[in-house]
Amino acid sequence: MKNTIIMKMDAENIDDSSIEKCAEILRMGGIVAFPTETVYGLGADALNPEAIKKIFAAKGRPPDNPLIIHISETKDILPLVKEIPDKAYGVMEKFWPGPLTIIFRKSNIVPHETSGGLSTIAIRMPDHPIAIKLIEKSGIPIAAPSANISGRPSPTKAEHVMEDLMGRVDAVIVGGDCNIGVESTVLDITGEVPVILRPGVISREMLEKVLGKVFVNSSAGKFNKTEEKFGCINTKYVHYSPDAKMIVVQGGLDNIVAEINELRRKYEEKGKKVGIICTDETGNRYKKSAGETTIKSLGSRKHPQTIAADLFKTLREFDKIDVEIILCESVDDMEIGQVIMDRLRKASGGHIIKV
Ligand code: TXA
Ligand code: MG
Repeated sequence: MKNTIIMKMDAENIDDSSIEKCAEILRMGGIVAFPTETVYGLGADALNPEAIKKIFAAKGRPPDNPLIIHISETKDILPLVKEIPDKAYGVMEKFWPGPLTIIFRKSNIVPHETSGGLSTIAIRMPDHPIAIKLIEKSGIPIAAPSANISGRPSPTKAEHVMEDLMGRVDAVIVGGDCNIGVESTVLDITGEVPVILRPGVISREMLEKVLGKVFVNSSAGKFNKTEEKFGCINTKYVHYSPDAKMIVVQGGLDNIVAEINELRRKYEEKGKKVGIICTDETGNRYKKSAGETTIKSLGSRKHPQTIAADLFKTLREFDKIDVEIILCESVDDMEIGQVIMDRLRKASGGHIIKV
């Protein structure tokens, strides 16, 4: 057990000595959790294999699942990559700092521990003052996966990080909630056509405006053998799973509500503790009191970004009250709705009922 330092920070007025202390821990090969605009990350010196091993141990992460390196200035990528493909410049210029991770061929200084044994490396520049200051002060590239125990929902609040990692990491920076709430888009530009390996709020449409044709994960394998290999990485592990069994119901809104009410009745009859994830538009269509069922709304369908921001938090809340079955409404598979559906698909292990 480590003695985890809790470091409170105000993103608007960052205390120099606190950030310096965390930067020093990173330089010495320790591991520090910090906020980004997407989710909290668990950082370590990307070029120090011993430090990287600590991340995998703390999270219980399979060693072949590669990490994202976080930088604070575009020029920081130069020592980390073998080459910068022409098409990278436009997207770096437009979307960095921000929730876009780009995959490059890696240089020899990046240890294989960081890249999970791959010849490529994922890099992003976060859009969060605490993250940027921490990277700057430490003076090193910071590898950071999401700061959760492997397989659990990503942390969007410092409390989530502490729930999972107290005693397992050297420090946790408590720096407010992450406003996006879902992880960055992962874009592979090493092949002929760019491929989205993980959808995020930087959408295919936004990327195509800069890059021309962009493929999405599922179609990647058809075009390029290498991409097929990468494409697997994202689907290989259990992701974002709550402890409860989760069922997503997809279809017209009236049918969704009817099906969830019916499933709820069946599970309540079996004495199961049920959780319903709904939206502001449908909240009053589920009966409140009976049984042990808890109903939580993710927000309004008119503002899908609020739904994305609350998703992982809500899954964790249901775990806390030991819900056994989560029944969840789907959202329209458009723009940020695609990101929400991607995470719901993973959280439910693909358990989607179409009505
Ligand atoms: O928003 C985010 O990206 C957050 C914050 C902390 O930056 N980080 C994050 O990291 O979500 P992680 O490790 O939970 O997810 C990284 C994803 C994994 O699915 C991993 O397989 C993929 O990126 N990845 C990393 N390097 C890769 C590579 N060289 N090729 C293909 N996929 C890669
Ligand atoms: Mg993760």
